[in-house]
Amino acid sequence: MNHFLDIHKTGAADLRNMITQAGEMKQARLGRPKGAPDDDQPLAGQMVALIFEKPSTRTRVSFDLGVRQMGGQTMLLSGNDMQLGHGETIADTARVLSRYVDLIMIRTFDEDVLIEMAEYADVPVINGLTDRTHPCQIMADVLTYEEHRGPIAGKKVVWTGDGNNVCSSFLHAAGQFGFDLTFTGPAQFDPEEEFVGYARKKGSKITIERDAFKAVEGADLVVADTWVSMHDAQSAKERRHNLLRPYQVNERLMSHARPDALFMHCLPAHREEEATSAVMDGPHSVIFDEAENRLHAQKAIMRWCLGV
Ligand code: CP
Ligand code: NVA
Repeated sequence: MNHFLDIHKTGAADLRNMITQAGEMKQARLGRPKGAPDDDQPLAGQMVALIFEKPSTRTRVSFDLGVRQMGGQTMLLSGNDMQLGHGETIADTARVLSRYVDLIMIRTFDEDVLIEMAEYADVPVINGLTDRTHPCQIMADVLTYEEHRGPIAGKKVVWTGDGNNVCSSFLHAAGQFGFDLTFTGPAQFDPEEEFVGYARKKGSKITIERDAFKAVEGADLVVADTWVSMHDAQSAKERRHNLLRPYQVNERLMSHARPDALFMHCLPAHREEEATSAVMDGPHSVIFDEAENRLHAQKAIMRWCLGV
């Protein structure tokens, strides 16, 4: 069963093929209205459940649109409105949904929910973000980097701020796509050792550097994300902001990266906090290409899951 649960759980050759196919599918429909069908309709007759236990704009819209472009149909489900949110077990939910749909995408809190869903579902399951990882985002980011700058292998990526779920998937991708990653942020927010260790074991150079200006020297790509993720307690907001403020990506920081460095942010952003508008709307930024590429990358992921 081709579940897409995490970047390190999927073969490197398969990941590479997905990036290639995503780029080809994007090219093939250039200039068409967003709602126009693709020439190929690999998801014709297929029903996809999109389950959200957390808010979402990009993931929700890009998955829904991607399925429709490929000829399939979607059911958008909110965890709260399902029995899942009211005591029905994940295993039973997985077994029931498998009788109705051909593919399940779930955004949830605890990654154990995702893992249990995959264990009991008879259909492929896709990780649409958990507290720990966000693999679909990083597939879109690799596609975006390579569209602008060519192969990401051997490049230096700098993650700024909180070593969160998106950072974890970047570390997995470093291992699988062969790039290096420097984390710069306060020690309290270091990425989990498991993810750092994975990337190092795969041969990537992973560096922890507390000084943001030193960290971005020679960077090909600088990445920021929100300082308070959806799973973080709002009560910790002020303390987090105080600790993370030195890691804001602003023009002064970007000027220490390579002149052709790209800037990425998975969005949603808190402008003037983790990154300034001058950077987000400036010449290095590819943030809206990333958002668009969620669509193309996930279409390739869904095809891989379904073998179509
Ligand atoms: N980047 C991302 O996953 O955005 P949403 O939370 O809007 O889906
Ligand atoms: N780290 C963020 C990513 C949002 C797409 C969060 O989990 O809220």
